[in-house]
Amino acid sequence: MKNTVTTFQAMKEKNEKISMLTAYDYSTAKLEDEAGINGILVGDSLGNVVLGYDNTIPVTVDDMIHHGAAVARGAANSLVVVDMPFMSYQTSVYDAVVNAGRIMKETRCDCVKLEGGQSMCPQIKAITDASIPVMAHLGLTPQSVNAFGGFKVQGKTLEAAQKLLDDAKAVQEAGAFALVLECVPEKLARKITEMLTIPTIGIGAGAGCDGQILVYADMLSMFSDFAPKFVKSFANVGEIMTKAFKDYDAEVKDASFPAAEHTFKIDEEVLDKLY
Ligand code: KIV
Repeated sequence: MKNTVTTFQAMKEKNEKISMLTAYDYSTAKLEDEAGINGILVGDSLGNVVLGYDNTIPVTVDDMIHHGAAVARGAANSLVVVDMPFMSYQTSVYDAVVNAGRIMKETRCDCVKLEGGQSMCPQIKAITDASIPVMAHLGLTPQSVNAFGGFKVQGKTLEAAQKLLDDAKAVQEAGAFALVLECVPEKLARKITEMLTIPTIGIGAGAGCDGQILVYADMLSMFSDFAPKFVKSFANVGEIMTKAFKDYDAEVKDASFPAAEHTFKIDEEVLDKLY
């Protein structure tokens, strides 16, 4: 059955945990969908994982649409969330609605995600009023990496923790249907989760959130540039891929691949008539 924003809300109310993973292409989305993952995020982590940038800043709306549409085609049941990239919504409420609309129309996703708290509430309200559900994102918001001065745990001081809680309440009030909490101390994330009526989805925010999300390439150990502390490796797919690539390389070079069963036949007569 198709997961929707109301499924997510009902899961919070029934105390059922919500599973989310990122995906950036059709085949991965299909596998995640078939595995029963509740939500698939086409994250702007696309920039790091797929496009090879060192952060998410250069990712464009067109990049998100290209990959978002592929994921939406592969996800029959999972809720598909597409990230709004840097500067596609911060510039104005008008830009935010136009870009969210483009993303939804051109990808056929179910909702969008954007980063930021009270200062982004006019955008969250306007996009939601345009019937596009919004997932908010607080804590270590990667599009603000330059403002934060690096990738650091957020909300550790009283002032920062209070700001995070105020932002969380504000995005809920503005109409966000769910909230991602990234790199936030476990007890703070738990408190925010208890104080909100909308579901929280944690990444590096402990087990007290209503759901969890990981970058799929991290949890499969496929992405070796950087491994955050909060990532658990569920399978060493990177190692399996490297071994398969090496085996292929060796078999091509010793001519043992392709074998007879991988090749097509032609009548000898046809060959004999060639001149
Ligand atoms: O872009 C992304 O993958 C994300 C997750 C880390 C939540 O925003």
